Amino acid sequence: MCRADRGVVLGLHRSGPDRDLLEHALSLGVRGIDTAYNYQGFTTHRALARTAADLLGDFTLSTKVGYFLSDTGERPVHSLDPARLRAAVERSADDLSRIPDVVFLHNPEVTLSELDPTESYDRLAAACATLSEASRSGLCGAWGIATWDPRPVAAAVEHRVSDIQPHVVLLRAGLSVAAPILSVGESLCRTMGVNTQHRWGMSPFAGSMADPAWGVVDLRAFLASDQDWSTPQAAFRLAYELPSVARIAVGTSNPAHLRELVAATAMRLNSAALVRYRELINEAP
Ligand SMILES: NC(=O)c1ccc[n+]([C@@H]2O[C@H](COP(=O)([O-])OP(=O)(O)OC[C@H]3O[C@@H](n4cnc5c(N)ncnc54)[C@H](OP(=O)(O)O)[C@@H]3O)[C@@H](O)[C@H]2O)c1
Repeated sequence: MCRADRGVVLGLHRSGPDRDLLEHALSLGVRGIDTAYNYQGFTTHRALARTAADLLGDFTLSTKVGYFLSDTGERPVHSLDPARLRAAVERSADDLSRIPDVVFLHNPEVTLSELDPTESYDRLAAACATLSEASRSGLCGAWGIATWDPRPVAAAVEHRVSDIQPHVVLLRAGLSVAAPILSVGESLCRTMGVNTQHRWGMSPFAGSMADPAWGVVDLRAFLASDQDWSTPQAAFRLAYELPSVARIAVGTSNPAHLRELVAATAMRLNSAALVRYRELINEAP
């Protein structure tokens, strides 16, 4: 199993844009940046335009809307209100000084999980219609749904015969994703007609490699024979299969780490071990 272009996307959740790192990313063939309206205290879009406006055209740029400043300004609040979403998409294009290639609805499950099924469907459909209309009117190239926990989203979509059809879905990916999240994410994509090429993954290390589990895990059984890769590299490559996605948004502020991740996309995997892994996690209580 080996594909030439595995689509590494530099995620800006944990660090602000760094021009040197972006130039380094381009030199490695990284062509994606993923950000959000609310990252770094709602400042990342402007910071990107300020520090790297001339580089942004070389990247596929995705962002997300769904978190907003609260009235007190203390912490972001989640909302699926169409007017707020539309305003955030407009503001994003202004702040970036560029039309984003993709705008995701950011974690709709935060609001949906508090609603009954009918209201949940209606609110999700209205929010998606807002992003779809923004895409049609040229405020973004495409629109999608980014979800950390797809279960409330799937419950809403499956409540009715749905015409919610995002261009792209962004899902958690990798060894840390529990079986129910994996399988519901996959079935949600199938229900909405989103094929593998339009499924993207995120957070391949669940946010950090500092967890002691990463220090003891042995991933060699997942590799096709005669290969020598580090644990972060193997975990990153496996994330493209768990679930099957075309691109992965990963966070790093370390140029050497980024180089390792790009190199890892050439890794060949033992597909039988992956099948067995899915069986085992599905059987787990
Ligand atoms: N709901 C959502 O929409 C959502 C939620 C979460 C994430 N995301 C997207 O996914 C992106 C990535 O998520 P994330 O940053 O939370 O988690 P992540 O990519 O799983 O983990 C980032 C961590 O991994 C470390 N790392 C990266 N490459 C490494 C390597 N080769 N060796 C050792 N450590 C390495 C980084 O440290 P160093 O800096 O030291 O390399 C950083 O601490 C975000 O930026 C965002 O774009 C979206």
